Amino acid sequence: MIKILTVVGARPQIIKASAVSRAVRDHFNDSISEIIVHTGQHYDDNMSEVFFRELQVPRADFNLGVGSASHGTQTARMIEGIEKVLQSEKPDFIILYGDTNSTLAGAVAASKIHIPVAHIEAGLRSFNKSMPEEINRIVCDHVSTLLFTPTTTGLKNLLAEGFRSDTVQPFSPDNPHVFHCGDVMYDNSLYFSTLAEKNSTILPDNELEPGKFILATIHRDHNTDNPERLNNLFEAILEITRSFQFPIVLPLHPRTSGVLERNMKPQVLEAVRHSQLVYLIPPASFFDMIMLEKNCLMVMTDSGGVQKESYFFQKPCLILRPETEWVEIVEEGSGRVTDTNPTLILEAFNHYVQHPPLHFPAIFGDGQAGSFICREILQSVP
Ligand code: UD1
Repeated sequence: MIKILTVVGARPQIIKASAVSRAVRDHFNDSISEIIVHTGQHYDDNMSEVFFRELQVPRADFNLGVGSASHGTQTARMIEGIEKVLQSEKPDFIILYGDTNSTLAGAVAASKIHIPVAHIEAGLRSFNKSMPEEINRIVCDHVSTLLFTPTTTGLKNLLAEGFRSDTVQPFSPDNPHVFHCGDVMYDNSLYFSTLAEKNSTILPDNELEPGKFILATIHRDHNTDNPERLNNLFEAILEITRSFQFPIVLPLHPRTSGVLERNMKPQVLEAVRHSQLVYLIPPASFFDMIMLEKNCLMVMTDSGGVQKESYFFQKPCLILRPETEWVEIVEEGSGRVTDTNPTLILEAFNHYVQHPPLHFPAIFGDGQAGSFICREILQSVP
């Protein structure tokens, strides 16, 4: 029996970790035991607990209760807490997801005391180091022993940085191994799609008709903390509702709701609040989000995960950032990088209304990434 220790902290990590926890429970119960550490980076019920419940993730064995703070303070508190748990639990591997401060903290804490790191969602790059996530993912990749990359582009990025996929065991941080294995989020979207249909009431609750609304999410600090960018985004949203007359549903991340008053022009905020067609709603649960993604006409987002989910559910996506790590979505023609430029947003919006994308090749694997990852971790422990 090997022991893995999973670190989660932010909403998307609970979602990603659920695919591997499910594989452990269903297929590796007699060979892998899992301990879960929640850093407490996200702590509101609708940013954390609801995802544990809906996604059937086992309750966290440790909660570090770190909460919100500056990047340095938040990460430092996490490193200290994770190190203590690692020293007492002595796992064979620490499992880290994505690119948040919780990922970075796990990578630093574990690698310094020689606990091997498996990084899931390795190799993604925006080539924009002003994003905290870019720093986090680079550091984590470069101290990892096993790197599980979801896409061909992720694999290419890692090979370009000197990683190899033909190394042989024993693997270590100095002899790491790269696996191209598909995306654990795709596992989840397939697995939970029917359950979401049964359990979510978000569409009737908001009187939304399938195919007749747009889903938008905005939470990146690059957008929320820059008044010009935030105003541009909301002006584009208002313009779309004026010309198109369909509602835009915006589940608001707490970071975004927290800055609306401070960073938006009063007249734009007023127009948003009085609009009959802009629906500002609280953060959506996983099932609600699936229903919104499955039934909308189009997605507008600055989130990485929502870009992918729009592809899984075969919807066009306007990417509200200057670049994307998920370049395949753009190459396949179902997503466009519009940044926060209202002209580009409106152009792309009109394009997709007239020419909805029809082809969605399987670029995110076969929905079995969780089991693949468990098998490879198991085989890597001497
Ligand atoms: C983090 C990740 C980001 C990821 C996102 C998913 C980093 C650097 N960024 O961003 O990559 O896409 O999670 O949601 O780790 N807040 C609450 N309640 C909560 C959580 C946050 O009110 O439960 C508020 C706090 O005011 C906090 C702010 O949101 O200061 C930002 O939270 P933080 O966890 O630092 O980063 P995110 O913006 O959520």
